Amino acid sequence: MQSSLNIEQLIPESLTQTAYQAFQQGKALFGLAHKNMSNRLTRLFVPNWEKIGQPLSKEEFDQLQQGRIQLLETDWKDAQEGVYPTSLLFENPWNEFFLYYPAVLLDLPLSWQKIRDREYQNFSSQVEQDGYPNYYLQNFHYQTDGYLSDWSANLYDLQVELLFNGTADPMRRRILKPLKKGLNAFSDVLPKQIRVLDVACGTGRSLKMIRTVFPKVSLFGADLSPAYLRKANQLLSETPEELPQLVQANGEELPYQDNYFHALTSVFLFHELPPQARQNVIEECFRVTKPGGIFIICDSIQAIDSPQFQTSMDNFPKMFHEPYYKHYTTDNLVERLEKAGFENIDVENHFMSKYWVAHKPV
Ligand SMILES: C[S@@+](CC[C@H](N)C(=O)[O-])C[C@H]1O[C@@H](n2cnc3c(N)ncnc32)[C@H](O)[C@@H]1O
Repeated sequence: MQSSLNIEQLIPESLTQTAYQAFQQGKALFGLAHKNMSNRLTRLFVPNWEKIGQPLSKEEFDQLQQGRIQLLETDWKDAQEGVYPTSLLFENPWNEFFLYYPAVLLDLPLSWQKIRDREYQNFSSQVEQDGYPNYYLQNFHYQTDGYLSDWSANLYDLQVELLFNGTADPMRRRILKPLKKGLNAFSDVLPKQIRVLDVACGTGRSLKMIRTVFPKVSLFGADLSPAYLRKANQLLSETPEELPQLVQANGEELPYQDNYFHALTSVFLFHELPPQARQNVIEECFRVTKPGGIFIICDSIQAIDSPQFQTSMDNFPKMFHEPYYKHYTTDNLVERLEKAGFENIDVENHFMSKYWVAHKPV
């Protein structure tokens, strides 16, 4: 009989936990150092930059640190309980990060220019703008070319990691536990016949995590950006499992038949949609979810359950050009989900993100 040697079984658990904490601490320090440096430079090159955001109180700063530690503890605990393998905690595209960090720095002057000129819909002449909803043609986060170029797609993951001090993936991983639980309802279906769609899949990081936990299920990803889909295809091709089917599509008009998916996920999309588009996407997700299936949303925290982080929530749309964020922070997504037909909606918060787990009635 062939025995496979699992490296995780050879290393004491306490050592792995220490390694995970050190890994995250390294990312946090790198994120903080980068922000410190880029804020100093921004102050130098953008007059009145100081007045754009409010400084955080010591109390809010401490609570943010506490929230980050709790998130990492939950991340570790879920791995220990077998929701996902411990190896997922250490997954990081190091080669990409080293390759593109200089490009992130080179991109800063372009952001300053956009902030100075209040120019938030600026695209290179090669970028095809036809056929996209107007609300989408924005330089979200002062991103060069918005979501519509390979340059933007190459920098995105690193920029998000720096913004969240290395917690973007731990926040994304919080969808895995409810997803596993939700798919239990279909335990009589062969894994290959289970269909899971990630709406606004971006560069494919959530799909990659879902693939690790469910090596056999049929995965699908939809996004409006051809460049981000190309990037996702690259990331998802790194592993030997079947490639998820990626399609360029608006979440408001998904190209799938009714009741097709056992589960849908969507990570960090809703704060970038205007109110009506938020409702349309939810209704479209309801249409393509199977009765008994689930829809999991992960997005930013909101004012109602995180008043202690109000200054961070006020600063974010001003400092990063997020035109729909302010409305999002007070929007009632439970009401929207119920209006679409979902029921039994669980809500939870982890650090800077909030999760809605909604069920389509059987
Ligand atoms: C903040 S990014 C999140 C990407 C990814 N889910 C993640 O976890 O990093 C927002 C993504 O939503 C996509 N997007 C925005 N509006 C969309 C829409 N109406 N339909 C489909 N995708 C959309 C963008 O192209 C971008 O990839």
